[in-house]
Amino acid sequence: MSKLWSGRFNESTERMVDEFNASISFDQRMAVYDIKGSIAHVRMLGKQGIIAPQEATDIENGLECVLSEVMAGSFQFKTEDEDVHMAVEKRLTEIVGAVGGKLHTARSRNDQVAVDFRMYMRNGIASVNNAIIDLEKVIIKLAETNDKAIMPGYTHLQVAQPILYSHYIMAYFQMFSRDFQRFSNILTSMNYCPLGAGALAGTTFPIDRHYVAQELGFIAPTQNSIDSVSDRDFAIEFLSAASICMMHLSKFSEELIIHSTSEFSFVELSDGFCTGSSIMPQKKNPDIPELIRGKTGRVYGDLMGLLTVMKGLPLAYNKDMQEDKEGVFDALDTLLQSLRIFAAMLSKIKIRDDNMLRAALNGYSTATDVADYLVRKNLPFRQAHHVTGSAVNYAIKKGVPLQQLSLEEFREFSELFTEDIFQAISVETSVNNRNSFGGTSHESVQTQIKAAKLFIESVQ
Ligand code: ARG
Repeated sequence: MSKLWSGRFNESTERMVDEFNASISFDQRMAVYDIKGSIAHVRMLGKQGIIAPQEATDIENGLECVLSEVMAGSFQFKTEDEDVHMAVEKRLTEIVGAVGGKLHTARSRNDQVAVDFRMYMRNGIASVNNAIIDLEKVIIKLAETNDKAIMPGYTHLQVAQPILYSHYIMAYFQMFSRDFQRFSNILTSMNYCPLGAGALAGTTFPIDRHYVAQELGFIAPTQNSIDSVSDRDFAIEFLSAASICMMHLSKFSEELIIHSTSEFSFVELSDGFCTGSSIMPQKKNPDIPELIRGKTGRVYGDLMGLLTVMKGLPLAYNKDMQEDKEGVFDALDTLLQSLRIFAAMLSKIKIRDDNMLRAALNGYSTATDVADYLVRKNLPFRQAHHVTGSAVNYAIKKGVPLQQLSLEEFREFSELFTEDIFQAISVETSVNNRNSFGGTSHESVQTQIKAAKLFIESVQ
């Protein structure tokens, strides 16, 4: 079977070369965008009088037929066609005859693949952002239904200060909002149309790139034809943003894994999101968060892969760039699946606020409040810190939490302690006293939740 480019060749390609060279096994997923790009291109060719209006109409109708075959799943993608672009053009010519050969006037596969990839990713990134919003809604709901639950906040994974669970979980809302913003920014910066750049230098035909850009929903055509066919920044930016988003999911997963251990028991994952052990009957394993944590490594790998592919390439198109797609598709699939399953899992977790509270009460989490109490009685903070440290040390040796020391015991460390110390070191007081903007008090967290809801409304 002769290739679309076989004119210059005397011998056919080796079979192993066909297989090695082909990208159709993975670029076929861009077929719909390849055809849409071609429809815009052929309309432009007709409008500009580069081909006859009737020819343009015939080709467009033919492309619509190919599109319906692709949508119906009946289109045959064959390795010998090399890539999606040639497969579509070949099928078009089978349907409309020799006139199909006019479609590729004033175009190259180099600008074609660039536009297909951008359109595919534009759609993919929009789906990612929808999935992020769905996850954020679950987070808000959890924060609202558990608005008063108190847990220990940690630094170095050591109990630090008591916080509201709603405050804790809204921290993740912030991370995912930044992810959303990053993806939105990429959607804007990548939204320029490379079609019409030709192989690299532009074209001798009087094309209208602005028209094509507009037809395909781009802001404008790209400015430099050489850059247009060699730029994969948008793919790398996507992979970076995807890596950061996976990093957030991975941290969150790690915490769910820790919090669902029998030692913590802060949360319980629902059975539908866990697996058992083939040997240990008691086990309920958090496979989903573990897998998300694991898949994060794979997305980082996709990012490193493309950065490495691109780093030494001379301008303009090089076949190395065919290696751009699989990693990006893999990252997109992985991220979308992870976001969706994570949201579903999170919507079904059970919060054990009794265990969280117990951990906060037993972990000396209000020691800072003791120091602050002394500071309010005019002791310099450094001294207050030292006095409190000695009291904590005493309580640890005695094996009791701070609130179980008597006033007399407190007064061994400072005469400034009076009966009101017990009120000051309750975890509820500790939490609600942290009423600074963005702090953990109930009022403060409610402000965050309100802002979060406004954000969700503003992007929908
Ligand atoms: N399959 C190729 C890719 O994915 C399409 C562009 C081919 N261009 C070329 N000059 N061989 O990169």
